[in-house]
Amino acid sequence: MVTYILYLVTTFLVLGCGFVFGFLRKVNEWMYLRKLGEKRHFLPPGDMGLPWAGKMLSFLWAFRSSDPDSMISSFISRYGRTGIYKTLLFGKPTVIVCAPETCIRALADEKDFKLGYPETTQELIGRFHDVSNAKHKRLRRLTAAPITGSESLSRYIDIVQEVITASLDEWASLDRPIEFFTEIKKAAFKVVMHVFLGSEETDDAFAEKLSLLYTDVNQGLNALGLNFPGSSFYRARKAKKELEKIIHKLVDRRISMREKNDAVDRTMDLLDLLIAEEDEDGSKLDKEEIADILHLYLLASHESTAYAMMWVMICLHENPKTLEKAREEQVQMLKRRDPTKKGLSIQEIKQMSYLSKILVLKVIDEMLRRVNIAAALYREANTDVTMNGYIIPKGWKVLASLRAVHMDPENHIEPKEFNPSRWENQRSKAGAFIPFGAGSRFCPGNEFAKLEIFILLHHFLLNYE
Ligand code: HEM
Repeated sequence: MVTYILYLVTTFLVLGCGFVFGFLRKVNEWMYLRKLGEKRHFLPPGDMGLPWAGKMLSFLWAFRSSDPDSMISSFISRYGRTGIYKTLLFGKPTVIVCAPETCIRALADEKDFKLGYPETTQELIGRFHDVSNAKHKRLRRLTAAPITGSESLSRYIDIVQEVITASLDEWASLDRPIEFFTEIKKAAFKVVMHVFLGSEETDDAFAEKLSLLYTDVNQGLNALGLNFPGSSFYRARKAKKELEKIIHKLVDRRISMREKNDAVDRTMDLLDLLIAEEDEDGSKLDKEEIADILHLYLLASHESTAYAMMWVMICLHENPKTLEKAREEQVQMLKRRDPTKKGLSIQEIKQMSYLSKILVLKVIDEMLRRVNIAAALYREANTDVTMNGYIIPKGWKVLASLRAVHMDPENHIEPKEFNPSRWENQRSKAGAFIPFGAGSRFCPGNEFAKLEIFILLHHFLLNYE
């Protein structure tokens, strides 16, 4: 009898909860759709989730679980392969695009889409990221130049090698295990400090302090945005404020150095370029703008590359045959090198890229596809946009899921397999390989990041276990 009652109560509770959740979801959907009039009939299929929370928990859970593709897979199984789904994320009605052509359109069509990161994320990234298109184009030309093309990269290859080999030597000399990500992040930060702030600011303790503050900021980027002591977003905001003070001091110091002409005899780093920049009317960037740009570059450049370096090592060690082949390839490369030359040169890497059969380069591309360091990018519709026969209403957010594109079997056969040989002869279809984004926001550091990863692999494979 007791069992029977328990059974009845449980059934009643389960059905009751199902009914309440179902009802709340309907109410939530109605709240957003009723304002759209007839347009609501042309929205993509999808699920707006619960009031206020939307599908946020499924979204965050997916990235913390062993199946980061679970949310998109559930949309595909419930609504079919439309490549575009509506939902509610970060408190905003959002359309997720997850096919190559829909992602490219959202990222590259500047007339219909603008940047649309959640407000909390944007606050941590800073204002430069969200300036007008014209200003972005001008500053982008200026800021990307020092890290793009062989000539610019050849200026930094020695410092990257110096930092990476010193770090490898140090770790090898220790008689205790290290946490690889923490250590490689410090190394990556030292490299970018050198590139962006020049040789004046290379003190190791200072680099470590900044790197730790940036770790806090990074952890807040995809957090829920709840601002109370102890929350990720609270810590991230605090770290950002401290970083602002430090970066402003650096800018002030450099401006006064330049005024005293102390800085003229050395290669211009990013900070010099920003201070010297003038537009056609002769107006210069103010200190706030310079500090914002510097912050964006420091934030975007090191943790992403450190993740990539960690994952490339994991991928290789999980695939010992590929590891051995890659090691042999680098040994052969060393044998071909002029013995008077120490270390890698850009010319050597360039020659290898022409050979595009080089295994290490394929390993890097495959890691970028499989791991998805930047899994999703955010935009906002400037107007009502028609895509794949559906309407994305003006003001709705658009989440371009790079991960979904890279993990779709229609774009990459057996996508969960780590298989560098898929890059042998195959050029993937347009938009099916976009680890660095697309359009005017395409990552300016993509060549630099690959250079750093290549250098790590080259020296590790030749000299370390
Ligand atoms: C493997 C490492 C990296 C990955 C996967 C990566 C990925 C990306 C992606 C996907 C974007 C586009 C964001 C959007 O469209 O909203 C981006 C933007 C950006 N990246 Fe990277 N990145 C990496 C390394 C770097 C490095 C090394 C630098 C600098 C040296 C850098 C600097 C930037 C900057 C400044 C932006 C913003 C560009 C703009 O708004 O115009 N990134 N990155």
